Amino acid sequence: MQVIGTIAELRALRQQLSGAVGFVPTMGYLHQGHLALVRRARTENSTVVVSIYVNPTQFGPREDSAGYPRELNRDLDLLHSEKVDVIFVPSDAEMYPPGFSTWVDVENVTERLEGASRPGHFRGVATIVTKLFNVVRPSRAYFGQKDAQQTAVIRRMVADLDMGIEIVAVPTVRESDGLAMSSRNVHLSPEERRAATVLFEALTLTRELSRGGEKDAEEIRQQMTSLIQKEPLARIDYVSIADASTLEELSFIDRPALASLAVTIGKTRLMDNMPLE
Ligand code: PAJ
Repeated sequence: MQVIGTIAELRALRQQLSGAVGFVPTMGYLHQGHLALVRRARTENSTVVVSIYVNPTQFGPREDSAGYPRELNRDLDLLHSEKVDVIFVPSDAEMYPPGFSTWVDVENVTERLEGASRPGHFRGVATIVTKLFNVVRPSRAYFGQKDAQQTAVIRRMVADLDMGIEIVAVPTVRESDGLAMSSRNVHLSPEERRAATVLFEALTLTRELSRGGEKDAEEIRQQMTSLIQKEPLARIDYVSIADASTLEELSFIDRPALASLAVTIGKTRLMDNMPLE
């Protein structure tokens, strides 16, 4: 396993590689959700590259990238156990040198849901992922279904800019009670942790309604909303039934759809989603 800190070194190494390169971009503080991406990449490629970089440009003015949890040595041990070949750990100066002025702006799909709550977030994500793709030049890149909108944005960007990279979406890894794994879960008190299961309960209800033949999206949104409102620690940011690729809200479920929601529990904003067949 090689740990690389500069673009120049990674480019030099990339030139030596033949065969498929699988790439997993992360911000570190790894959990089983990240490792599911890494394992999938390991089975499908001759070389696996993982990046660990807390990208400051995707954090809003009231969010704190410096306060993002970090545990590099533990992350490196985990990735070593997964037989990752290359880990890219660049500095801010390496990714955003003085004079940096070019941004990747994906329209439409970025404007809803997380994009509406976090202006500029997806511009930061699309820009850093483009830069990482340009350096790693992967055959395939792995993203979590957990961040369904992010995955949809990257798919749109790769198609629009002819990047020629296969985007693989990996199912969400959950705790035994259904809570989606997330680096934010550590902020929950025991009582909040118990309340946080309401997100998965709302999505499970949605899936049951949808499987039972309910096609009226507003009816489903209302049922999700009233279930969540029964949890006193939960505050709804949004509840959505949308087209799975454009994320436009649906009134009638007549195509592949995504149920998603963002809920604040105490001070921690959690999000989750479930594809509806
Ligand atoms: P980060 O939050 O570290 O997530 C890295 C990848 O892990 C993302 O593709 C995310 O969807 C996936 N992931 C997180 N939790 C998961 C879970 N419970 N199950 C499955 N996959 C999960 O997302 C980012 O970093 C950044 O925005 C990044 C793409 C690295 C750009 O900076």
